[in-house]
Amino acid sequence: IVVSAGGTQEPMDPVRVITNRSSGKMGYAIAEAARDRGARVTLVAAPTNLPDPVGVAIRRVATVEQMRGAVLEACQNTDVLIMAAAVSDYRPAQVASQKIKKDKKVEGVTINLVKNPDFFLEVPKGVLRVGFAAETEDLLGNARAKLKQKGLTLIAANDITAPDSGFNVDTNQVTLLDSQGKEEELPLLSKYEVGHRILDRVTKLLKRQDSRERN
Ligand code: PMT
Repeated sequence: IVVSAGGTQEPMDPVRVITNRSSGKMGYAIAEAARDRGARVTLVAAPTNLPDPVGVAIRRVATVEQMRGAVLEACQNTDVLIMAAAVSDYRPAQVASQKIKKDKKVEGVTINLVKNPDFFLEVPKGVLRVGFAAETEDLLGNARAKLKQKGLTLIAANDITAPDSGFNVDTNQVTLLDSQGKEEELPLLSKYEVGHRILDRVTKLLKRQDSRERN
């Protein structure tokens, strides 16, 4: 299983980055839950303060381009990809080679951003793909649209407005939506337990895939 975690960092200059509030806890918890069920796990981690989990192969990355390279490489030899990372949709168009200095005469600055690749679309078709959708509004509508646009088998719709859910807490509340239209609202659980619930669904889907291939 390949799992991504954390918030990517896009540099503006040698000292500044554009990033988000992801702590990596959700992705790390999925990686640990998968390891505890006997899976061989590769964790592609954007910068976090978390210790490396024991028994998991870890690839540390920072930018979306680096995460893309590491995920696509690991996906050459995997059954499942679970993307819990918060990936920057845009990055600065130019990265200054020296620290950008404050100009006393200039009151405001504009940063031009360009789109990052959505590398979910580049993952080999045989890999079972699970995504997350971190949303502040129209949770299920937006998650359903992402499930379809990104060609996923399963998506965890993550309401990040609830106090004990989402970024940088130990618990999470998600609704699992699958490509067959099934919706399962999970209660507030530890991120480790959310990981197991996702893996329960993944295991069932893999078994179904296996028996279809055998028949
Ligand atoms: O790390 P924690 O503090 O524990 O927080 C957990 C979390 C809130 C970050 C996590 O549960 C979560 O919701 N992760 C996905 C956050 C997100 O940014 O989702 P999105 O709606 O922007 O992207 C949808 C999916 O496409 C995600 O699986 C994302 O990894 C993937 N994606 C997004 C952009 C991109 N360029 N490439 C991608 O593959």
